[in-house]
Amino acid sequence: MTPHLRLGVNIDHVATIRNARGGDHPDPMRAVRIVQAAGGDGITVHLREDRRHIRDSDLDTIMAGATLPINLEMAATEEMLEIALRHKPHAACIVPEKREERTTEGGLDAAGMHNTLAPMVSRLTDAGIRVSLFIEPEARQIEAAMQLAAPVVELHTGRYAHLWLDENAAGIEVELRRIADAAALCAKNGIEPHAGHGLTFDNVQPIAAIPQLAELNIGHYLIGEAIFDGLEASIRRMRQLMDEAR
Ligand code: PXP
Repeated sequence: MTPHLRLGVNIDHVATIRNARGGDHPDPMRAVRIVQAAGGDGITVHLREDRRHIRDSDLDTIMAGATLPINLEMAATEEMLEIALRHKPHAACIVPEKREERTTEGGLDAAGMHNTLAPMVSRLTDAGIRVSLFIEPEARQIEAAMQLAAPVVELHTGRYAHLWLDENAAGIEVELRRIADAAALCAKNGIEPHAGHGLTFDNVQPIAAIPQLAELNIGHYLIGEAIFDGLEASIRRMRQLMDEAR
């Protein structure tokens, strides 16, 4: 039987809405409690260098109050390393980060950044944090993750999600195959593959059907749907679609 596919809910954009007005509404910690009630398997937060959504104080509150495992997305910087080591989340997903981007565009160049990443991966691992690298679904990047002894990679589904939006796009099947092949290559080499970025009710099932995937991290779409149907209902619907696809 294909193992349970975990759903990590990225709550960054609850903080985006809060920050649009200042103040403290809507409260990301309230979202954490709803994710817990709705059967989510984990909470993902991205503390960006510019603190455009999640802030340091959110991380303090969430780390203190959440019962689900926390996955901290972080850039490969000394500042973020120090924050991760201080908080010791369950997992840390190292992502590429550019100030001018709207969201995480493209995967980490784990191959080209070996010397920067190697001490980071080992310090996080030594602290008991499960390291994940957010990479493109490419053999070269998976080999680099193996050399770095990262136990987990998260495969970037942004290109897949983008192709899905264009009904005439050739290449969606090719992209899906690329993700499936990458997940199989990870599993064969003892790396746990996760996936995420741009996943929606419409496009999640072909990804969820990839048997080696252990976790999906989904944020923007769920928070958007929550405006219309509520966060709990949105998570439950996503959960149901993922389960149906397994
Ligand atoms: N996984 C990673 C590593 C990300 O950086 C993001 C976006 O912050 C996500 C998953 C979630 O992507 P989305 O918000 O498009 O669902």
